[in-house]
Amino acid sequence: MAFQSQARGPLFEPLSLPCGLKLKNRIAKSAMSDSLGDGTGHPTTAQMRLYERWADGGIAVSIIGEVQLTSGYAENPGNLVLNDASDLDRFHQLARHGGGNGTSLWLQLGHAGALAYGPTSIPKGPSHFDLPGLRCLEITSGEIRQLPSLYATTAQLAQQAGFGGVQIHAAHGFLLGQFLSPLFNRRVDNYGGDIENRMRLLLEVIDATRDAVGSNFPIAVKLNSTDELEGGFDDEEALDVAAALDRTSVDLIDISGGTYFPGAKSASDRSGRGPYFLDFARRARDVTTIPLMLTGGFKTRSQAEDAVASGAIDIVGLARPLVIEPALPNLWQEKVKSEPVFPRFADSPEGGVTAWYTMRVADIAADSETIEFGELEKAIADYKDRDTARTKTWIAHFGKHATGNS
Ligand SMILES: Cc1cc2nc3c(=O)[nH]c(=O)nc-3n(C[C@H](O)[C@H](O)[C@H](O)COP(=O)(O)O)c2cc1C
Repeated sequence: MAFQSQARGPLFEPLSLPCGLKLKNRIAKSAMSDSLGDGTGHPTTAQMRLYERWADGGIAVSIIGEVQLTSGYAENPGNLVLNDASDLDRFHQLARHGGGNGTSLWLQLGHAGALAYGPTSIPKGPSHFDLPGLRCLEITSGEIRQLPSLYATTAQLAQQAGFGGVQIHAAHGFLLGQFLSPLFNRRVDNYGGDIENRMRLLLEVIDATRDAVGSNFPIAVKLNSTDELEGGFDDEEALDVAAALDRTSVDLIDISGGTYFPGAKSASDRSGRGPYFLDFARRARDVTTIPLMLTGGFKTRSQAEDAVASGAIDIVGLARPLVIEPALPNLWQEKVKSEPVFPRFADSPEGGVTAWYTMRVADIAADSETIEFGELEKAIADYKDRDTARTKTWIAHFGKHATGNS
């Protein structure tokens, strides 16, 4: 359906964040692990082109997923790693390419914890587990004490390299999300037990990061509204965390949901009518005045417009729609284009849809995506083959990590 020409509309109004950054519109590219790092934690020219294309496409904020604090607990061997051992010039180049056209390019600060990629790490979470699909050691008190400064260091280096902000990843079942969840956090110290204790590490990370970057640099938090797991982190506890975030210096709460634990539902594998988690966003409005972004399930311009116009949220986060159509914000603004068409996969294995989108991200980076969708099975096979190759590079460069935060 073609759009009628009309006034600029709610999606294209600017927004000022508490830190003072003025965003040109209300559309953000949600964090996606692009898996295009070079295997030594450094950016590639493919990534530079990818983020340049997304910036040219009209988003106000672009978030690079899963940038690791250390090589020890990566989510994927294509992750970036930014710390004192990194070649900052290469990150500077990425910041320059992806931060054009008035886009603020942010790094999502990641630590996969119990979900760390097995071939390059010995996963470690808040508590020890030895279950099929979930084997991890327990992180020590000493390691917990070091974590806030690791986040702070990576954030400060991001700022030095010219990135526009950072997002602390506390969603989707990775380390800080594991701490929030009563299913995965069975600790009996100050970091486990009631929700006040389970959110302690997140709050310490925010404070340390703010101290490192100063008051004018955006810090966002990605928070699950629910893990969608029986006995897991639920919407009531998520509201407690949103209320606590209100007392911090955070500039934006990016609401999402679902986890990548084996057997669980992830937002990026999910199909069906969106947006997801909008009711939670409305409730979060009552407990915080921090700007809210919502990520998950937006597929049409009218869904995005309605969510912002209703006052429920301030920013629409898009992941898969921007993989189908990297210039979607421009097209929505020009009001000349039909909505993107999404592929439908009948019998996808767990993680298969996310793998398919990841491989299409690589096509965008190579300027080679087509309107014909590639096959799911081929994408999954290519994804695995690439990870196998990057794993070799990663281990040759970093070694395989057994312990610690290094
Ligand atoms: C290929 C791919 C990679 C993703 N990687 C990340 C990531 O690194 N960090 C994160 O917080 N979410 C990640 N996500 C989840 C998205 O940010 C988003 O929450 C989810 O896809 C739902 O939004 P959508 O319906 O707009 O795709 C990823 C999603 C996809 C499709």
